[in-house]
Amino acid sequence: MKKILFIFGTRPEAIKMAPLIKELQGRTGSFDVKVCVTGQHREMLDQVMDFFSITPDYDLNVMKQGQTLFGVTASIIGGLEPVIDEYQPDVILVQGDTTSAFIGALAGYYKQINVGHLEAGLRSGDVYSPFPEEMNRIMVGRIAKYHFAPTDRSMNALLNEGVSKDYVYKVGNTVIDALLLGLDIIKSKGDDIYAEKMNEVDWSKRVILVTGHRRESFGEGFESMCNAIKRLATENKDVELVYPVHLNPNVRGPVNRILGGVKNIHLVEPLDYPDMIWAMEKSFLVLTDSGGVQEEAPTLGKPVLVMRDVTERQEGVEAGTAKLVGTEGEVIYREAQRLLDDSVAYEKMANAINPYGDGTTAGQIADILEA
Ligand code: UD1
Ligand code: UDP
Repeated sequence: MKKILFIFGTRPEAIKMAPLIKELQGRTGSFDVKVCVTGQHREMLDQVMDFFSITPDYDLNVMKQGQTLFGVTASIIGGLEPVIDEYQPDVILVQGDTTSAFIGALAGYYKQINVGHLEAGLRSGDVYSPFPEEMNRIMVGRIAKYHFAPTDRSMNALLNEGVSKDYVYKVGNTVIDALLLGLDIIKSKGDDIYAEKMNEVDWSKRVILVTGHRRESFGEGFESMCNAIKRLATENKDVELVYPVHLNPNVRGPVNRILGGVKNIHLVEPLDYPDMIWAMEKSFLVLTDSGGVQEEAPTLGKPVLVMRDVTERQEGVEAGTAKLVGTEGEVIYREAQRLLDDSVAYEKMANAINPYGDGTTAGQIADILEA
């Protein structure tokens, strides 16, 4: 029996770890699995844990309102030592690029335990964008032994950095495993439940779904993103905008101040994962700076305007479904307005493409770990 310790702490990590946790838990003869959540996120993490019915074995419960990178880092590294000492895992698994992922990997290194990295090899090429995620994933990549890369591009990035090809596995991204599971669930429940939950939105109209939370955009970038969204709403009264607002106070401040009270903008609390997928499926267009949403929307055939200057998820851009529009208000407004007005331009982007996996990633990773 291999002893596997999952370490993660935020919403997107939980979504992308859940299919693998379930897969390993199902292979009872092969794996003993424990889940350690750092609690870097609280409500947004718990939403996902509840949905996937995963109960953590350890919960460091580190989140504080308005936490700093220093505070989160210190709390997590301190909390992990006794967990690892008690469980003595053979392998530690981390996902992506958050502080929880980086510190989880670092803790493995300090204890000389092999680390496996899901979603390995993503690179934007700019260590300050996304910040601190680009450096986090580079550092996890330095520490990890097993690198589970989603695409050719990410696999090649690792090989070019000198990682041994014996330990780089191109397996897709578990985000697609989770998405397919979510789609099955919403199909089995039918539209009414979701439409009823989000009944302040007129879903018969064209809906623009918005999310945004990147640290490097706080301040001026965020203000200008919000101003573009407000202009879009006021100049397109026949369009509905839905914005599930991230709980980070640096996000909620400008979003509520600039977008609150605009009739066709619906500021809602973070959505449960299936509600989010349903909303994405029903939407006309997605405006986001989120990593995960950039992976999901192309799979659903939804054009995505990425409100960032660079992305580590070029696959969607190259396929034509995603477009980088930066954080400058004028550009965001212009590009979104073009998609509302020009059906040819819209149809060109609205292609269902799926460069990120086929839903079998968790099974593939489990096979590799088993072998
Ligand atoms: C974190 C990750 C980012 C990831 C994002 C996903 C780091 C440095 N950042 O950013 O890579 O893309 O999560 O959403 O690892 N808060 C709550 N409840 C929650 C979650 C957050 O109240 O459930 C508030 C708290 O005030 C918290 C703040 O948001 O202090 C910031 O949380 P934090 O995890 O530090 O940063 P995020 O911006 O969420
Ligand atoms: N998501 C969700 N509810 C929301 C917003 C996003 O369930 O209200 C999901 C989304 O579908 C994706 C993930 O959360 O799977 C992305 O998380 P986030 O944008 O917080 O982080 P990132 O991917 O940018 O690290």
